[in-house]
Amino acid sequence: MKILISDSLSKQGVELLEKAGFTVVVKSKMPKEELFKEIQDADGLIVRSGTKVTDELIAAAPKLKIVGRAGSGLDNVDTPAATKRGIVVMNTPGGNTVTTAEHTMSMICAMSRRIPQATASVKTGKWEKDKFMGVELYNKVLGIVGVGQIGSHLTKMAQGIGMRVIAYDPYLAADRAEKMGVTMMALPDLFKSADIISVHTPLTPETKGIINAQAIATMKPGVMIVNCARGGIINEGDLVEALKSKKVAAAAFDVFEEEPVKADNPLLALDNFICTPHIGAQTTEAQENVAVGIAEQVVDYFTKGVARGA
Ligand code: MLT
Repeated sequence: MKILISDSLSKQGVELLEKAGFTVVVKSKMPKEELFKEIQDADGLIVRSGTKVTDELIAAAPKLKIVGRAGSGLDNVDTPAATKRGIVVMNTPGGNTVTTAEHTMSMICAMSRRIPQATASVKTGKWEKDKFMGVELYNKVLGIVGVGQIGSHLTKMAQGIGMRVIAYDPYLAADRAEKMGVTMMALPDLFKSADIISVHTPLTPETKGIINAQAIATMKPGVMIVNCARGGIINEGDLVEALKSKKVAAAAFDVFEEEPVKADNPLLALDNFICTPHIGAQTTEAQENVAVGIAEQVVDYFTKGVARGA
């Protein structure tokens, strides 16, 4: 049986599949024609976020039985089209939880102390101590939108440095929130109360633009906003205006509405905006976790008929 891996995957995952007897073809960044040729005789496909598993690609894969996403987000997989064809779609939620939460905390620290801007300044030969006045995180209120695995881990880290955590999550049970020491509230209340807001939801019709001009207008002046979840949860155009007026003091993004982000995206021109290129899950540990996780799930599916993940 052939498993096509069309995005880069840690070698531990590839080795696991090979050991289980599969013919593994690893080719990332293939031109469209090559991808469509390789998928023709594939029984399984493993992707990260690069390959767009479209209706058209699925139609070109008559033997395909499983699509495995090494990672959590399934927005690059047309799951309804796959399901219609009886193809199982799996992901590995959990494998990159710690890494992504750590990246979010890094962004919060970097943003509040303007570390990227200060680094750039020192590298141009300047020594601008007065310019780089930051804010302390201790005792500040962190508003987390979406307390899943990443939001929960971030909560623990934030509490560890003395932040108070408030949260909005319609799916979080009250007793679990209480155990975590998190104050749950309605989204409009969170917007009004938080010093820093970090979103940790998937991108869905409900969450798209959940932070927009209207929401920002209700926030504290000088609020800071972080998105290490999915581009589009925060309306970029509205954020540009709020960063310009300083209503939002700073923002930090790992994800964008369009990726790779275009060089002329107005956010990139703003000094109070910092960003990274969707590297929230990009650590050796997380990539090994998701590669091994998805490889094990694919093996289990073909050998035991067990379907795990999404
Ligand atoms: C995920 O969905 O797992 C993360 O966004 C990282 C990735 O793109 O693989």
